[in-house]
Amino acid sequence: MSAPESLFVKACKAQTVDRTPVWFMRQAGRYMPEYRKVRKEYSLLEICKKPKIAAEVTITAAELLRVDAAIIFADLLLPLEVMGLPFHFAAGEGPVVQRPVRTAADVSKLHTDGAADLGYVSEAIVLVSQHFGARLPVIGFCGAPFTLASYMIEGGGSRNYVQTKKMMYSTPAAWDDLMAKLVRVTSEYAFEQVRAGADVIQVFDSWVGCLSVEDYRKYVLPRTTELITNLRKTGAPVIYFGTDSATLLASMKETGAEVIGLDWRIPLDEGWRSVGFKGGVQGNLDPVLLFAEWQEIESRAEDILRRAAGRPGHIFNLGHGILPETPVESVKALAKFVQEH
Ligand code: CP3
Repeated sequence: MSAPESLFVKACKAQTVDRTPVWFMRQAGRYMPEYRKVRKEYSLLEICKKPKIAAEVTITAAELLRVDAAIIFADLLLPLEVMGLPFHFAAGEGPVVQRPVRTAADVSKLHTDGAADLGYVSEAIVLVSQHFGARLPVIGFCGAPFTLASYMIEGGGSRNYVQTKKMMYSTPAAWDDLMAKLVRVTSEYAFEQVRAGADVIQVFDSWVGCLSVEDYRKYVLPRTTELITNLRKTGAPVIYFGTDSATLLASMKETGAEVIGLDWRIPLDEGWRSVGFKGGVQGNLDPVLLFAEWQEIESRAEDILRRAAGRPGHIFNLGHGILPETPVESVKALAKFVQEH
């Protein structure tokens, strides 16, 4: 931990702060010309694996936007590789896992002793936290077991998660074995990130919203709670984020995460009420609003701040990551608006 007294870390602990901290998911990405320039020279995975470049990309985005936290540049799927599942990014298609996991035998072959091979991410965190010191907190992150399992099983993105749910329903022991293995690897991976200087860990459960409450509670909540309980032992606050999660929020809060990340589909105050106003919430402007005129962006951002009503524990963010082609000036203006509000 390098910036424990920062606005952002205090807000994550639901402590009173002078103003609402703001950062953005995917703040370093294709919408930014500086990032596209680096991408001309290196692939996404090359950037992730070169600590100096990953640190530079992380720092450039945070400084350009003047946000209140820097999220380390990495990808959610990196742990798949060290567990024995190579993947690549196909142009226009997103991630592709070469040999998806489909059976109990496939699950039993996955390694759980390779988290140390992700040391390049921690090395990048060391460089970023040395650069910023106490000036700006660094966010480490990992995938939640459900979302990572879905990529392993589907072999990429999915619409209906048929293969994932099929494993859950028809071979629950193999499913749980897979979840347990993911918890082992991601716990160690995130632990290393905190040791390297990460102030907060965000757990991305991006696709959890495809589940009913009943299935979430039965097949996902216990292992996710195990992960978050492990992570909280580091002393770094945990932000647990999912999309399409309005019906799941109360259950997600049972994991013990200090902060729940909200997507844009639910009014911020309603989402906060769903978790009993316990702890913090992060969010939740629709990332597509950044394509609108400034007046519209401003009024919707103001509405979110009004719904937060000055309660301690609000961290301003989008409801999901910044999209390619988002106007950079709007992102900058939004950060400034929140900070001056
Ligand atoms: O937020 C940040 O600035 C940190 C960087 C970051 C990346 N991926 C870099 C990246 C983070 C936090 C992630 C997390 C991630 N990766 C998630 C969870 C967050 C979410 O969006 O729900 C997921 C599901 C992934 C897997 C992944 N990586 C997908 C689905 C894609 C999109 C593929 C595509 O072609 O658009 C990626 C690629 C990726 N990871 C990009 C970035 C900046 C896209 C830009 C590029 O290809 O250079």
